[in-house]
Amino acid sequence: MRFDDPHSFARPWETSVQHLALDLEVDFGQRQLTGTATLELKRSDGASELVLDTWGLAIDQVQGNDGKALDFAFGEDQGILGRPLVISLAPSTQSVSLSYRTSPNATALQWLEPAQTANGNHPLLFTQSQAILARTWVPLQDSPAVRFTYEAQVRVPTGMIALMSARNPRRRNGDGKYSFKMTQPIPSYLMALAVGNLEFQSLGPRTGVYAEPETIDAASWELAGTESMIAAAENLYGAYRWGRYDLLILPPSFPFGGMENPRLTFATPTILAGDRSLVSLVAHELAHSWSGNLVTNASWNDFWLNEGFTTYFEHRIMEALYGTDHAEMLALISRQELDHEIETLGASSPDTHLQLSLAGRDPDDGMNLIAYDKGFFFLRMLEEAVGRSAWDDFVRRYFDEFAFQSMSTERFLDYLETTLLAPAGTSRERLHVDDWVFGPGLPADAPRPSSPALARVEQEIQRLLAGTPAAELATEGWETQRKLHFLRNLPGALKERQLADIDKTFGFTETGNCEILAAWLLLTIRHAYQPADAALERFLMSQGRRKFLKPLYDELARTEAGCKRAVEIFERAKPGYHPVAAHTIEALLR
Ligand code: BES
Ligand code: ZN
Repeated sequence: MRFDDPHSFARPWETSVQHLALDLEVDFGQRQLTGTATLELKRSDGASELVLDTWGLAIDQVQGNDGKALDFAFGEDQGILGRPLVISLAPSTQSVSLSYRTSPNATALQWLEPAQTANGNHPLLFTQSQAILARTWVPLQDSPAVRFTYEAQVRVPTGMIALMSARNPRRRNGDGKYSFKMTQPIPSYLMALAVGNLEFQSLGPRTGVYAEPETIDAASWELAGTESMIAAAENLYGAYRWGRYDLLILPPSFPFGGMENPRLTFATPTILAGDRSLVSLVAHELAHSWSGNLVTNASWNDFWLNEGFTTYFEHRIMEALYGTDHAEMLALISRQELDHEIETLGASSPDTHLQLSLAGRDPDDGMNLIAYDKGFFFLRMLEEAVGRSAWDDFVRRYFDEFAFQSMSTERFLDYLETTLLAPAGTSRERLHVDDWVFGPGLPADAPRPSSPALARVEQEIQRLLAGTPAAELATEGWETQRKLHFLRNLPGALKERQLADIDKTFGFTETGNCEILAAWLLLTIRHAYQPADAALERFLMSQGRRKFLKPLYDELARTEAGCKRAVEIFERAKPGYHPVAAHTIEALLR
């Protein structure tokens, strides 16, 4: 099936990459990867070229499988898309081998100084390829509609380990040479590499965690439930097909919560709250092993098929493990986040459609909570319409039937209609499916979760506003989610003495739980509550998760004094941020 991808120059319907063999040297001094990429090709009749995506790559030489040099030329530089590399194939060429070097500005690579790690003695490198950054470190067809298997040889300084989205070593070896194999075909955005002073700890028969020695114990305690999450996921939607499932806890500059690199999820250390209250992130990244990594969005316009299904699946895993009450609490929190996102984007904004039109834009700019939470509620609406048992059968069959394939929105809707809706006696029209997918905002029939636990939190807010001291509120047993709900639903105009009372009671300024701290700091900026100023600065300087940075900088930028402060903090913090996070903050402060 041919899928057009506005973010790739490749023409896989003519010549496509089937297998990649990488041979790379990691040079921390030069901040550069050097080596060769050998691509095995499938050519259709008459195809005489191979077109690859590249960004900032220096290509020294291209050879065919017969060892003879092949002509190659770069096309025009097209900004974030980089430059197409066109290789002229000989009639007998079955594979090409490129000698290349990355640029020190490669956006997929974050090179951390020793001081940016917990250990402080070794540098660390990690990649982030999604959405269109793989082309900054490997010359390939950088489209989610192309899948290939890979193997790699990676040389790193001794004392460090290399890890990839593939079969991984457990421990550091003496010579710094590591080999990898990924025998299942994956799209380029799932290519991943990390290099550092990392240790492994087993969590269960097929799960484990890698982290710096200073973090490994906290990480393995927090993630101890991973094995049972896999069991819950399999019980819902079929076998986990990737062999092992390990996690890598990165230093705090990792710009995302998590990234579903196959066999090895990359994650932020900000999920290590010390009470396992933020493990829904693991459920999310694990769920991508089905939605995304098995059945993959055909282009970034179909991003909701990855993230909406994954958010839905995440909620089902959480429900299976923690029960309906907890799951409904999470669902209501999602609903609030979604309502807020729609309000921010504008209820008629095309960026609130499930299917996006990102041609000519940086896909990163169109990726907001809509794909996640509107996607989630759309699928939940379908579940409610046909009943859970028919719906679950459908989802299981969907993952099975389209495993290792690409899925476009249209292809999905056809499949949905013939396989689920028609047999269930309903239809696309009746369920307003097209409004959901191609229309803005949130249709009126969107599910509204109800959570008695969160309703009680709202009652306590009312009591607080009526004058009850914070210490007398009924807050016993409030876990992260109830505290979050409390903070997010406090009104916009509190008195300084009320904030001080809340802070004294809950200790928010000093909390080590980043979700709660971020919500609290947002409130303190809004109220110009100065006792939290130092904590705000510390938070912005010490971690680079974009989800936390963006709202805080946004809120600061609302006033003139705040804006000055934001710019001043950003200047100092920027060297520690990942390029994608720095880019986002720079754009909003401009
Ligand atoms: N695949 C995404 C991360 C991503 C999306 C990276 C788009 C680059 C471009 C990952 O699965 C994700 O959604 N992470 C979330 C956490 C999740 C629990 C909602 C994040 O990083 O915040
Ligand atoms: Zn995701």
